[in-house]
Amino acid sequence: METHHSNNPSLLPWEAHAASWDETMGDDGNQYFSALELPVLKKLVSPRPEDRALDLATGNGLVARWLAQEGASVVATDGSKAMTEQARIRTRDWYQRGRLPKDKISFEVLDVTDQSSWELFVASHGPITKKFDIITMNMGIMDIHDIEPLAVYVKQLLEQNGRFVATLLHPLFFTSGADRQITVREDPTTGQRQLDRSLVLRRYLNVPPARQLLFSDDPGSQPPLCFHRPLHELFAPFFRAGLIMDALEEMDFDESFREPMREHAARNYTQFPKILAFRMRFAPSNG
Ligand SMILES: C[S@@+](CC[C@H](N)C(=O)[O-])C[C@H]1O[C@@H](n2cnc3c(N)ncnc32)[C@H](O)[C@@H]1O
Repeated sequence: METHHSNNPSLLPWEAHAASWDETMGDDGNQYFSALELPVLKKLVSPRPEDRALDLATGNGLVARWLAQEGASVVATDGSKAMTEQARIRTRDWYQRGRLPKDKISFEVLDVTDQSSWELFVASHGPITKKFDIITMNMGIMDIHDIEPLAVYVKQLLEQNGRFVATLLHPLFFTSGADRQITVREDPTTGQRQLDRSLVLRRYLNVPPARQLLFSDDPGSQPPLCFHRPLHELFAPFFRAGLIMDALEEMDFDESFREPMREHAARNYTQFPKILAFRMRFAPSNG
């Protein structure tokens, strides 16, 4: 299939680090994926064997392969050509190892911020009879600078009874850039030392794009940018496009994931959810 390659500079770090991302996520993903994202995807997507699914910003294809294992036929896309290739190679390996029935997933490059990229995609997939029952975008929304085209085309490509499910780093407690703080005090009644964890939120409405920690130890290439959006900016494009939100979840690690040797680790702040997940669909018709 013909693909349009955009000149989106936000994609460059992903192109450069596609192989190391694939290595990090492996076959089954990290703990963010297995403990927080997959459970909420299962709950909000509820795939059925006959579903046709589109996975956006697929990375190394984790969600696409999960959907395919559930029986859906999947089109997996990513804005990065190198990442799409990693996903294709890992999936071929799954076919060879018998972890997936062959040819359940096809792969394409699709920059969700780019109108021309969407137009080409729609031209080959968009006829009325070939819309999608499921569209997913796992942990991708904070990686893109513009979500307007995404909302418009999700609406256009979704079946009447379809669902769009996205997860992202939590806008309030994560992408706002809130500082993590630890206060140490001795309890006068027990004589025990106590650590209190809190967040200091200085900005929420206007937070400039920030470099992520991902790949930041590589001097050869800058880390990807994270694009924070307050909640009203996150949801407004989807509402404007004519979708409604019918589910919202906030996910966090419990105490069993605590890292005592890394007191500063985000997962130790168990009162503050790391991941926001939401589902959009068409408003029910009155007739
Ligand atoms: C944090 S990773 C998540 C990958 C995967 N969904 C997962 O859950 O493992 C973000 C992904 O977004 C992709 N991405 C970044 N900008 C994009 C864009 N404009 N269009 C499509 N994908 C994009 C990156 O290439 C990367 O694969």
